[in-house]
Amino acid sequence: MRVGKPGDGARLKPLWLPWLGNHFDEAMDSLDQGTMLTSGGFLELVLVAEDRSSGDVVGMLLAGPPHHFFEAYPAEMRPVVAQLVVKLSGIAVAPERQHEGIGTKLVRRAVGEFRRAEYRWMYGQFAHQRNLTDFYKRLGFTVHPAGKDLTAPRELGTVQLACQPGEHWFDQTLQYETGA
Ligand SMILES: CC(C)(COP(=O)(O)OP(=O)(O)OC[C@H]1O[C@@H](n2cnc3c(N)ncnc32)[C@H](O)[C@@H]1OP(=O)(O)O)[C@@H](O)C(=O)NCCC(=O)NCCS
Repeated sequence: MRVGKPGDGARLKPLWLPWLGNHFDEAMDSLDQGTMLTSGGFLELVLVAEDRSSGDVVGMLLAGPPHHFFEAYPAEMRPVVAQLVVKLSGIAVAPERQHEGIGTKLVRRAVGEFRRAEYRWMYGQFAHQRNLTDFYKRLGFTVHPAGKDLTAPRELGTVQLACQPGEHWFDQTLQYETGA
């Protein structure tokens, strides 16, 4: 597993397109142009899982600044918030390689990276029919009931994110571990 690099965007597209549509086009263009990690100075992480022998891309994860969450804060606070809160925007594993632990490794690595960078909170969202409650629970997230709004930890202010019907929020506070 490795961090994404310029040129990966086009290779990753077939993996996420069936699940997440054109949602990541902009992020993947930035990745291809080499501007992703530096845009706004915020940590935006793309992880790529490749098959050891063929080199084929078999999984990807994208996590980065929580643009919706920002809307709850005045503009001058957003750079601060962006260094504490991260959204796990999407994850996809090639259908023929699911249930081998690749998705688990991708999420664990992302949590570790943001924890080391002293982020405080990671959250994300999935559609109820994806049935991913156990997957995220096993990874240490709280999975909230479908349709229930998400409340940020108190240290981040009283911020609530509205939930669409049939969607679940999931979240995890990230404790910084010395030497982790
Ligand atoms: C979610 C996903 C990334 C998990 O990746 P993975 O490599 O298969 O996950 P792991 O092998 O680490 O963990 C598997 C466990 O997660 C759960 N799980 C994984 N995929 C699942 C799926 N499609 N449906 C239901 N449960 C699933 C199961 O509990 C499974 O346990 P099992 O293998 O013993 O049955 C993968 O299924 C995927 O790409 N799905 C399509 C895209 C998607 O739904 N993305 C999430 C929303 S952004």
